[in-house]
Amino acid sequence: MRCLLLLALGLAAVAARKELTPHPHQGLSDPYPPGKPETELASKDIQLLRDGKLVQQSFKKGGGAGRALAVQDLHAPPDYVWDRILDFGNYPKMVPKVVKCNNYEVETFRNGTEAIKTRMVMNVFGAKFDNHIYHTYFKSLSSLTWTLDYARRSTLDDSVGYWYVEPCPDKSKQDVQEWSRVYYSCMLRVPKWVPGIVVNFLEKKAVSEANMWLKREAEAKFAKDKVSGQQLGKRGGTGGGVFGGFSLKGAGQHAAAPAAVEEEEDEDEEFTIAGTALGVARKAATFGVGYGAGWFMHARAVRRRSEEE
Ligand SMILES: *[C@@H]1O[C@H](CO)[C@@H](O)[C@H](O)[C@H]1NC(C)=O
Repeated sequence: MRCLLLLALGLAAVAARKELTPHPHQGLSDPYPPGKPETELASKDIQLLRDGKLVQQSFKKGGGAGRALAVQDLHAPPDYVWDRILDFGNYPKMVPKVVKCNNYEVETFRNGTEAIKTRMVMNVFGAKFDNHIYHTYFKSLSSLTWTLDYARRSTLDDSVGYWYVEPCPDKSKQDVQEWSRVYYSCMLRVPKWVPGIVVNFLEKKAVSEANMWLKREAEAKFAKDKVSGQQLGKRGGTGGGVFGGFSLKGAGQHAAAPAAVEEEEDEDEEFTIAGTALGVARKAATFGVGYGAGWFMHARAVRRRSEEE
């Protein structure tokens, strides 16, 4: 009996140690700065947004310049969009491939900005990704950025990302105050063991399986509250978070042609999955990527030699 107990304690200690092992580096990808992205929407893009499509842009200036950026209009006010993005505890119910998600540390600074550390476990066709993500929710700037929490070990080699939500500026909409414009961008570095078959499958199914979780969830909640005359309640206990990709039906129509899957000679190199739903694959040099499960769903995977090596 005592033996078993000791063994159990021993295993628990091993598990705890593993969890608290720092990541092997302190970040390889540049984090995104918070705030409104500098980008220009052409009139054809504005038309696509009106049609409910996902539009691909790139950051014009500043941190993140050249990185792919996804833009979408949702029929829900910004409060509703944030309510869903920050509901990390419910990601397993909302975001495809997320099997476990919880915040392990939440801190609100004096200026209202929140640091939200989230463990998110995803299962992508049997490949398990156990990541520790350090989100910063800049409420006053209506944006959320993230990096990995480098104090803990994650499966992904690196991930940085960004959300920005604004009241929809499209004055052609009669009920424009009920709409938001959402911007998303993400970069991802995937370790070499991730099987090519997983990557290929993702590439083929990316668009068909895209299910627009953020659009779906925010619009559904808003529509329900509107019908029942309810107000958005206070955000619940788990804090919020952000993640995932939203994708749009039809995103594929605007996505770049799939980049060829490049065979990797040197198995020690890392490769990066680029989110084509976000238009990332268009330029091989720009790796926008998904870090949330939702992302993987929309990711068109590109195997390539990491540029940073
Ligand atoms: C708020 O405070 C945090 C912590 O000191 C800081 O990182 C952040 O830049 C400050 N400003 C804003 C706009 O969040």
